[in-house]
Amino acid sequence: MQRSENRVALVTGASSGIGAAFVKALALRGYRVVLVGRERERLQRNADAAQHVGISHEVMEADLITRAGRDAVCARLEEGVDLLVNAAGLGLSGAFWTVPRTDLIGQLDVNVTAMMETTRAALGPMVDAGRGAIINVSSITGLVPGRGATYAASKAWAVFFTEGLAPALEGTGVQMQVLCPGFVRTEFHARAGIDLTSMSNRWWMEARDVAHRSLVDLDRGRTLSIPGLGYRILYGLLPKLPRHLGQKLNRTIGNSSVRS
Ligand SMILES: NC(=O)c1ccc[n+]([C@@H]2O[C@H](COP(=O)([O-])OP(=O)(O)OC[C@H]3O[C@@H](n4cnc5c(N)ncnc54)[C@H](OP(=O)(O)O)[C@@H]3O)[C@@H](O)[C@H]2O)c1
Repeated sequence: MQRSENRVALVTGASSGIGAAFVKALALRGYRVVLVGRERERLQRNADAAQHVGISHEVMEADLITRAGRDAVCARLEEGVDLLVNAAGLGLSGAFWTVPRTDLIGQLDVNVTAMMETTRAALGPMVDAGRGAIINVSSITGLVPGRGATYAASKAWAVFFTEGLAPALEGTGVQMQVLCPGFVRTEFHARAGIDLTSMSNRWWMEARDVAHRSLVDLDRGRTLSIPGLGYRILYGLLPKLPRHLGQKLNRTIGNSSVRS
């Protein structure tokens, strides 16, 4: 495990799931973590639980759907951090045309706009310092179309955005990674109202294993991180199938007809 004394990481979505797992993993690596989310008490509990060897973490309440929330996080990033993890994100259930327009816009605000703005805010100081890294949490569904509409499209945006930026940063000392997990046991599906109780256990991963794999891949300089051997095999095989068959397979996994 690489230690990162005196380094600061900002994690969005730090209140639960994958973001919370990153907080724990980064604290163990010696980072001081800035935890971003909407519920101060929950963030503080996670910050306290991750406290090691006298490093105290910082809590920042911000709603990334709002302009003010994104501005506040960007202002903190412009002060300089060593690592940014964009883990905040949400899915929606219901057929696309039935979902309230404001919910769809809010989803894009968090999954796309916030990621774009925070990445931009973090990059300037990182490039000036000649070091730093950004992990953008996408999804396996960002690599294979066919599951949900706006959610899958927002996750594909995160893949293209991150992989598009990475070459522009070559030689600057700054690394980009897009993390594409499959199904992870978090609050994500319950919050979205997606019932996955019938999903086979074999597809599920734990958030701590996802965060661990991402950080190991970052150490190895990998721009694309896909946790779980089964998902890496699936990703390797899907492009070899005709596009419509790949989409059909992806639609079949995980109750996708009721997602947006
Ligand atoms: N779970 C999966 O199967 C899975 C698979 C692939 C990709 N992902 C991606 O992984 C990321 C993390 O999701 P998760 O699985 O860990 O789900 P989760 O447990 O529901 O966590 C989502 C996080 O996003 C934050 N968030 C949502 N809306 C926000 C807003 N308006 N402002 C600020 N923060 C907001 C939540 O913070 P609050 O406490 O403030 O609500 C929470 O910390 C997401 O980008 C998701 O798309 C998840």
